[in-house]
Amino acid sequence: MSFLSTFLTRERLVQPQNTKLVTVTLGVAGGLWVAWGLIRRTIHTLHPAFLPGEPNPVLLATPFENITSRHEDDDLAHVEEYDVVIVGGGTAGCVLASRLSENPNLRVLLIEAGKSDLTLLHSRIPATCTELIHSAVDYGLKTVPETNMHNREMSWPRGKLLGGCSSINALIYHRCSSSDYNEWGLQGWAWKDLEPYFRKAENFMPSPAWPVDWSRHGKGGPWQIRYPSFTSPLLPAFITGCNGIGVSTVPDINHGQAGMVGVTRLQTFTDSESRRSSAATAYLTEDVCRRKNLKISVGMTVTRIITQSTADGKRVAKGVELASGPHTPIRYRVKASKDVIISCGAVHTPHLLKVSGIGPRDELTRHRIKVIKDLPGVGANLQDHLLIPMTVNTAKGTSINYVSKPLFGLKLLAEWLLCGTGLLGANCVEGAVWMRSHDDPEVVDKIEDLTSAAREPDMEIISIPGWFKDMGKTSATDRNVDQWTLGQIPLRPSSMGKITLADSSPFSPPVIHANYFSSESDRQISIWAFKKSCDIVKASGVFKSWELPKRADELNDDEILEFLKESANTCYHPSGTAKIGAESDSGVVDTNLSVYGVQNLRVCDVSVMPRILSGHTCAPIIAMAEKFANMLKGEYGSVEV
Ligand SMILES: Cc1cc2nc3c(=O)[nH]c(=O)nc-3n(C[C@H](O)[C@H](O)[C@H](O)COP(=O)(O)OP(=O)(O)OC[C@H]3O[C@@H](n4cnc5c(N)ncnc54)[C@H](O)[C@@H]3O)c2cc1C
Ligand SMILES: *[C@@H]1O[C@H](CO)[C@@H](O)[C@H](O)[C@H]1NC(C)=O
Ligand SMILES: *[C@@H]1O[C@H](CO)[C@@H](O)[C@H](O)[C@H]1NC(C)=O
Repeated sequence: MSFLSTFLTRERLVQPQNTKLVTVTLGVAGGLWVAWGLIRRTIHTLHPAFLPGEPNPVLLATPFENITSRHEDDDLAHVEEYDVVIVGGGTAGCVLASRLSENPNLRVLLIEAGKSDLTLLHSRIPATCTELIHSAVDYGLKTVPETNMHNREMSWPRGKLLGGCSSINALIYHRCSSSDYNEWGLQGWAWKDLEPYFRKAENFMPSPAWPVDWSRHGKGGPWQIRYPSFTSPLLPAFITGCNGIGVSTVPDINHGQAGMVGVTRLQTFTDSESRRSSAATAYLTEDVCRRKNLKISVGMTVTRIITQSTADGKRVAKGVELASGPHTPIRYRVKASKDVIISCGAVHTPHLLKVSGIGPRDELTRHRIKVIKDLPGVGANLQDHLLIPMTVNTAKGTSINYVSKPLFGLKLLAEWLLCGTGLLGANCVEGAVWMRSHDDPEVVDKIEDLTSAAREPDMEIISIPGWFKDMGKTSATDRNVDQWTLGQIPLRPSSMGKITLADSSPFSPPVIHANYFSSESDRQISIWAFKKSCDIVKASGVFKSWELPKRADELNDDEILEFLKESANTCYHPSGTAKIGAESDSGVVDTNLSVYGVQNLRVCDVSVMPRILSGHTCAPIIAMAEKFANMLKGEYGSVEV
């Protein structure tokens, strides 16, 4: 009360005239500031290289002088030349740029459509990653109405910033089953080929509270992997529940041996101060950015791959065309003497290939795109994981629902900033269990065995110690109630979708047909996992009542399926849309990641995986990019392991 009265008294002391003057001055200054911001943005959009000394959007990149020209024109004379041009500064792109530019004689350009991730607090704080979904750094894509999911247009978050999805994702470090890679049957991409690169990427920091076998992890790599310092009482409850239904505890699921089943605590990519270690923060450090032979261009979207015909009738990728946005008529060009590498992710890689004339002939012709190479596999073979949550009410003091109370949030922020500890440093997916439906005699005849080997899983269930619905975009109905969410992730779906074009514009959102739940087996395994989740909860010792859905353990299979269709979302792992494989088998690239029919054009990102993995895709693509960088160094004549 006394604070309030002081405030009121002070207010009255201000002379009315002065108030007016101050208001007018502030108003004019504010208006000018806003106007200048608008003018600057307009100039940037039209001509990013125009204002010298501006930090963005062409961060660290040379202005591409005298390379503006007309759209259809493929003239590359007088265009700035690099040896390698990497399109997409996402998860794979950052690794490639960093590793390739280790050779000082190789001129590398990395082009990213989004901006830097460094100033983005929600990206740095692990626990707030869901804030980035539907934000300015998310492409904000949606699927078409999914016929088996109540015709919902489902959100598909994709990171649009340096580090790509690794800068907005849930930070779960998982290498997936060794047999997943062996199942691909590809020369050079088996588990034994990739395992050294998982280690090379990694700097593993062990936790005294959860001892694991160090020797299986990497030390001294750029990517920081550790256990978060915070855990809730629901982690031990989850482990008890899983043990209670006969699943044993595995200290470290990233063990790389055959038989990746069991319940475990999850490792995350966070550094010693509990900040996110994204592909950008790990691989594009200040030292790397200072390299004279590496240029990083942000805020620039590649609109087309430029190819030319050689004398003997072959097609060769010669460079790319880029623009700062859809509204500027100005296009920039850049030349690549060795390779153009596409690392735009599973949605945008097929999109860019298609708008550049590389894809299924019918579709390209329909959109009046000149066919450079008829390649039916581009955009096909789309596979994704679902994440289907169920929520229960638990014993008092077990969950973290209280964090959304505003004052508590401030305390946590202070703790994270000052000490690098506490709940904000944790990704809030504490534990996970990997299971095999085929060990359950009751369902073997209903569910296809699509596991990558005997003893490998087809289901994962993650433990989130609070309310979690709609990808974390809705908050708890009651913050004072303790809640717990188990999210099932069917790992080996047989449903497949595709990425197609809306039109020929590189800026139009690609059309996503996820085609979830299109097979009976995919539906049956989710019903099975729903029942398993109920069993885990009941065996956990903290269960109080069902919340979402109510009466969960009394529902029949049809009712369960209805619930699953309503509450499922993507688990953000789209893969396979430019797969490694024979051209006759809808392959897009060969085992050297070279695009069929277009020389000097490579693809390296999640889209090259021919079959979706039994887990999370970030660590696998980092290892694959590490391996590919080394392959390229060999091709360019400077091998180093
Ligand atoms: C919300 C979310 C949570 C996830 N959680 C996890 C997790 O906990 N653990 C895990 O292992 N995996 C997780 N994943 C999946 C994982 O992050 C991705 O599979 C992986 O990062 C994809 O890497 P990428 O290199 O293929 O593509 P991306 O990282 O998406 O990179 C593509 C980049 O290309 C850029 N780009 C696209 N088109 C153009 C263009 N035309 N010109 C210039 N640049 C362009 C994009 O802006 C982007 O930066 C999650 C993903 C999301 C979205
Ligand atoms: C374009 O730039 C190159 C050097 O980057 C220069 O040699 C050339 O003369 C320039 N061309 C024109 C038309 O200005
Ligand atoms: C991949 O590249 C290597 C080395 O350049 C070459 O020996 C091999 O034949 C290539 N493989 C394919 C499938 O083209």
